[in-house]
Amino acid sequence: MNETIMQSNRSEVTLREITQETVRAICKLLVLESQKQFVAPNALSIAEAYFSEHAWFRAIYSDETPVGFVMLEDQPEKPEYYLWRFMIDSKYQKLGFGRRAIELLVEHVKTRPNATELLTSVVQAEGGPEGFYKNLGFNLTGEYEEEEAMMKLIL
Ligand SMILES: CC(C)(COP(=O)(O)OP(=O)(O)OC[C@H]1O[C@@H](n2cnc3c(N)ncnc32)[C@H](O)[C@@H]1OP(=O)(O)O)[C@@H](O)C(=O)NCCC(=O)NCCS
Repeated sequence: MNETIMQSNRSEVTLREITQETVRAICKLLVLESQKQFVAPNALSIAEAYFSEHAWFRAIYSDETPVGFVMLEDQPEKPEYYLWRFMIDSKYQKLGFGRRAIELLVEHVKTRPNATELLTSVVQAEGGPEGFYKNLGFNLTGEYEEEEAMMKLIL
């Protein structure tokens, strides 16, 4: 696919429910080998979501092409919502899809009860996503969970 056509500002980016027809395509989305330390495989995330009361997850599409996956921990009784998993397939990275998907996620979270903060946690390593999240307005909180640095976006 032509990268110019695939840029996020030239296509409509949407967050879509995963169906019986699309689940295999979403599980085939992959990050680079060097990025596998930063995010679990989508099949594992979808399996975990199936057993969680609080998982909200969607496939990220550019027009009709699946390009990524996002999963939120949605506990409406708490003001902070937690971005649990997030990935853009390596073929579609650096084209603006990650930024657009987070914007759409923020729009969604703002519609949820009591939402004032979006949290995430990152592995702090070369090539990791910390700079990406900083670029989008997240800040390090100084706290760590399971050796991952917590980051927060005020909504
Ligand atoms: C992190 C990730 C989601 C970014 O997605 P993407 O579609 O490539 O990001 P975008 O093209 O929307 O980039 C948005 C901005 O962030 C910057 N950016 C992207 N990745 C970055 C990184 N790893 N470090 C610093 N800045 C980064 C881009 O240069 C761009 O800047 P600009 O708007 O000023 O030009 C993607 O690289 C990925 O899936 N990585 C592997 C999995 C991962 O780390 N997930 C997060 C788990 S917490």
